[in-house]
Amino acid sequence: MNVNKKDILGISGLSAEEISSILDAASVMKRIILSGQKKTNYLRGSTVLTLFYENSTRTRVSFELAAKYMGADTVNINVSASSVAKGETLADTGKTLNSMGADVIVIRHNMSGAPHLLAKHVNASVINAGDGMHEHPTQALLDMYTIREYYKSLKGLKVAIIGDIYHSRVARSNIIGLIKMGAKPVIYGPSTLIPPEIEKMGAEVAPTINDAIYQADVVMGLRMQLERQKNALFPSKSEYARFFGMNQVNMSLAKKHALWMHPGPVNRGVEMTSGVIDGINSVINEQVTNGVAVRMALLYMLAGKENNKDVKYKASLVSLPVQEVCV
Ligand code: CP
Repeated sequence: MNVNKKDILGISGLSAEEISSILDAASVMKRIILSGQKKTNYLRGSTVLTLFYENSTRTRVSFELAAKYMGADTVNINVSASSVAKGETLADTGKTLNSMGADVIVIRHNMSGAPHLLAKHVNASVINAGDGMHEHPTQALLDMYTIREYYKSLKGLKVAIIGDIYHSRVARSNIIGLIKMGAKPVIYGPSTLIPPEIEKMGAEVAPTINDAIYQADVVMGLRMQLERQKNALFPSKSEYARFFGMNQVNMSLAKKHALWMHPGPVNRGVEMTSGVIDGINSVINEQVTNGVAVRMALLYMLAGKENNKDVKYKASLVSLPVQEVCV
């Protein structure tokens, strides 16, 4: 099964089969990362640009590492020092980068839909690294990869997603993906931060944090996105921690071997106590490693050397042994 797309703009544009195919390819990439011989030739001659209009540590660095591990040339565009600061439009910036030979442009933007606009103006493949409050598809893919690695399948799993759902592109992409893969997302957070349309997406809204966590296979905390809040939507960080935070007491309601997840960055002591972040069930650091593997798989699928620039061809890596992939 190949993923035959020019761009990766959202989980909403991927079928369950395509998600499975990406996760299968990522498992090959993970073996490459763990083998210690990380350098491959698969993207030799390709150029991957990262264009981030918002701050990032994990996503930007992991795309850059993923591209380097695949043998691509990478350029990180410093938006504040670029011609964007002189008033250049996103479309014109995209056309400029395209004319310089970009094969893949990875974009994060504070406006929902910005990657979709860019994709219309460039021949290069565009990957959405987070657009406003809309989607963060590569985060959801790495989250689903992490869950699938432990449970082998996502089908029937109860996944509690707790926190600032309203502002969270991570929650939206995960809810869409988890439902496609047969899991059951259950959400909880301050009522001011639960969007009314969320139940229409197929997520269940729990009445209390304990109900959300009870017997969950996975508990995912979300970052409190203070930078996106125009008005105070909860009284204080300490009250948030008290009523909506994850701690070892409420986490004990989840299944014994439940995975404790967070996309990062974490506000320690607000969304989660240190006991949870650093707890034995926490897979937060594994999520970061898996993010590199998932992004390697996506870059390969979009810009691998078998790729024909007119008709995008994406080979499946599933059957390739690691030694054939490494150089
Ligand atoms: N999870 C995530 O998107 O983190 P960054 O903001 O550090 O990229």
